[in-house]
Order: sequence, then structure tokens, then C-alpha cells
Amino acid sequence: MNLILRRERTEVFHRVEELTREAFWNVHEPGCNEHFLAHVLRDSLDFIAELDYVAELDGKPVGNIMYARSVILQPSGLPYPVLTFGPVSVLPSLQGKGIGSALITHTLELARQLGHAVVVIYGDPAYYARFGFRAGEDFGIRTKDGWFNPALQALELVPLALKGISGSFVEADVYNLDTQAAEQFDADFPPRTKEVTPSQSRYLELLSQSHR
Ligand SMILES: CC(C)(COP(=O)(O)OP(=O)(O)OC[C@H]1O[C@@H](n2cnc3c(N)ncnc32)[C@H](O)[C@@H]1OP(=O)(O)O)[C@@H](O)C(=O)NCCC(=O)NCCS
Repeated sequence: MNLILRRERTEVFHRVEELTREAFWNVHEPGCNEHFLAHVLRDSLDFIAELDYVAELDGKPVGNIMYARSVILQPSGLPYPVLTFGPVSVLPSLQGKGIGSALITHTLELARQLGHAVVVIYGDPAYYARFGFRAGEDFGIRTKDGWFNPALQALELVPLALKGISGSFVEADVYNLDTQAAEQFDADFPPRTKEVTPSQSRYLELLSQSHR
């Protein structure tokens, strides 16, 4: 594969939003909002442009990962700065070939080199454990509503960075999408049918595993 990873350039913004839509459509819920998230994330103050990477195959974008600053809000009220990533997307026809892993591995190492110590994400542990992510619960990290959930995972880029740190993971505000604005944004893309699909049950299964 003639695959290269490079910083996202303005010329591919729309193509990256299209491929994000293709990757997420009907996967976690009927339709998706992640292409709108990609669109608004770039303008957010919490966005980290240095970690916005595109995978290009034969010169065409086929995958993308974006990061933003978030925090773990400690019981003392002190925020501990962390990174989060998402969306991370690979065109459906090219999934399972290592492109997502290449994007994640490359940017995690870059994040470490840039001085970031911790990454906290929501995602399927069946996928993210391979990169060293562990359940947030292992570190005492809860959702912002105070729940432990296996989808909430953390990675120490710097060994023991989370020693003595616990609390609630508060994602950058940009992740709280305006769903009406997302609908309007989607209207400019080719029409697609929203459907209930088997992959959505995995997402619901993970959601149902929340506990205190
Ligand atoms: C998740 C995603 C970015 C991974 O990219 P990719 O290029 O397909 O991943 P890789 O080829 O590096 O890794 C493929 C492996 O991950 C597994 N995998 C991919 N997505 C997974 C998921 N949601 N849950 C569990 N395993 C998953 C594959 O089964 C495969 O396993 P194997 O190595 O044991 O065969 C891509 O599948 C995608 O865009 N999915 C739709 C959007 C999405 O769900 N993004 C992540 C949101 S948390």
C-alpha cells in the first residue's frame, strides 16, 4: 500500500468530512454526526492542529484522526489536562488493513513528543486495548455524570502520569454537538438512509455497562 500519514490540509477538509460520514454512517446510531464534529472541531480553541492527521492512499484521503484538549476534573475541583481523540475514521472499503492503527500509533507517539501525558477516550475496548488503553475505572476516572463505563478508557503516554489523579472526564465542550445544526450540515451531503444496524447493539451494550 502506498500509504502516507500527513497533517490535514485545507484542500482536503471536505473530503475528510465525507469519509468521516462514510465511516460512521449507521455504525453507532442511525445516521451519524461525526462529520459535523470534524467540521466544528477544527475551529474549536481546544482543537490540536498538530495532531490532526490524514492517511492518504495513492494521494487520496482515506482516513483521519483529530484530537482536542479535555480535562479530568479532580474531586478537589482542580482540572488535570488530558487529550482526547475522535473522530477517528477509515473508509469502510479500506478498514481492517492497519490504517486506523497507523493513524492512532503515529499520533499517540507525536502527542508524547509534544509533551502530552495522558489520553482519555470513549471507544470500544475490544479495539483500543491494543494501543495500551485501560478502563478508566482502573485509574478512578468516571464519566462527567459520575459513572464508570468500559468505553471510557485512558492511556498514560508518560509512565505513571495518572498516579494520584482521579475524577470525572470532561470532554472539550465542542463534543457536545448541537444535533439540529448537525442535521442541517448533513443536508448538504448526498442523501443516505438512516437505519438500525447490528453494529449499533454493541454501542448500546457498552452504554448499558455503566456502574457507580
Ligand atoms: C475504528 C477504525 C478507525 C479502525 O480503523 P481500521 O483501519 O479498520 O483498523 P485497523 O485495520 O488498524 O485494525 C483493525 C482491527 O480492529 C478491529 N476493530 C475495528 N473497529 C473495531 C471496533 N469498533 N471494535 C472492535 N474491534 C474493532 C478489527 O476487527 C480488526 O481486528 P484484528 O486486527 O483483530 O483483525 C475504523 O474501523 C472505522 O473507521 N470505523 C468506523 C468509525 C468508528 O467506529 N470509529 C471509532 C469510533 S470510537
